Amino acid sequence: SGVEVEMAPPDPILGITEAFKADGSADKLNLGVGAYRTEELAPYVLEVVKKAEAKMLEKGENKEYLPIDGLAAFKKATVELLLGADSPAVKEGRVATIQSLSGTGSLRVAGQFLSRFCSGRTLYISDPTWGNHKAIFTDAGVPWKTYRYFDPETVGLDEEGMMADLKAAPEGSVVLLHGCAHNPTGVDPTKEQWKQICDLCHERQLLPFFDVAYQGFATGSLEEDAFAPRLFVEEGHDVIVCQSYSKNLGLYAERIGALNIVASDKDSAARILSQLKKIARPMYSNPPVHGARIVTEVIGNKDMFDEWKGEMEMMSGRIMTVRGELYDHLTRMAPEKDWSFVKRQIGMFSYTGMTPDQVANMTGKHHIYMTKDGRISLAGLSSSKAEYLAAAMVDSVRN
Ligand code: LMR
Repeated sequence: SGVEVEMAPPDPILGITEAFKADGSADKLNLGVGAYRTEELAPYVLEVVKKAEAKMLEKGENKEYLPIDGLAAFKKATVELLLGADSPAVKEGRVATIQSLSGTGSLRVAGQFLSRFCSGRTLYISDPTWGNHKAIFTDAGVPWKTYRYFDPETVGLDEEGMMADLKAAPEGSVVLLHGCAHNPTGVDPTKEQWKQICDLCHERQLLPFFDVAYQGFATGSLEEDAFAPRLFVEEGHDVIVCQSYSKNLGLYAERIGALNIVASDKDSAARILSQLKKIARPMYSNPPVHGARIVTEVIGNKDMFDEWKGEMEMMSGRIMTVRGELYDHLTRMAPEKDWSFVKRQIGMFSYTGMTPDQVANMTGKHHIYMTKDGRISLAGLSSSKAEYLAAAMVDSVRN
């Protein structure tokens, strides 16, 4: 007999793109998903990616299955990009790395690992967080709670609330942290605050778990943006880190990323890796090769690596420019309000504090698509549309 199911709700982020596509208005603007667009609002394939692909074609590599844990050269490149080639943890072979399906897939494998080997431990997730985190860990059977993170009054970090909630977490709890460019708020702890969080994790025996989806997109520097996970590893923590190349290399659809678990010694890392492979095999067997080869080519070649850094600076620079323009228009149109948060927030997003009703007005009246939590992706905004966006925002918050 047939299976009766209810209609599932649209995805809070990717569902926005579906709605955007169905809108016939010429004014429409998709600021929902965090995907970089050019000034012409077209998707952008990095020049360095095209070069890497041309080299790959020349080499004529085959399409055999990768090992369950992915391409060896990619694994080396990705962990070194994250922790630095000189990292003692890397040199001592203490990091278990598995190539996985970008950020989401890596988080899902990590979630499965936690539910299998850390059962009874609660995962603490920032409030708010990326729209997919809760679903990933719920599906993986990981119990989670939230910790305070964002202060709407200051549009900044709720340092006191965050520290108090983490202090109150039972020993052994796992803490999910955004490595840089917190999604959706664009508010990151300062280096000093990271040190305090790191110390607190020691004190309370909490297991830090980083989601690094924007390395290079916060400050424009790959090293700077890896400050937090590097600090925790240097301070001797066992650390879980998921990486994505969707944003920084623009490889969204290639589904390329990794899960790294930094352990106390080489033998534990080997045992952890064996278990990660055991988790991945029945889930998706082994990961796709194309994106792994692109990343490996780019990181492994000095000229291409430098070119990549230049393109990343260009992308993050363009986002910074539209931030400034949006701020100027908003301040001119509604000088009674303090819009400085638009310029202060970092990464791809601006977290506007708009209510669901105001967001509904943005979309219904102005054809501007954004997530219900009030997040707008500035990576999807052009200079020529900044004034249109500002006018819609002012109209929405005033009514
Ligand atoms: C986003 O937050 O918009 C991105 O991470 C895309 C996604 O997968 O949700």
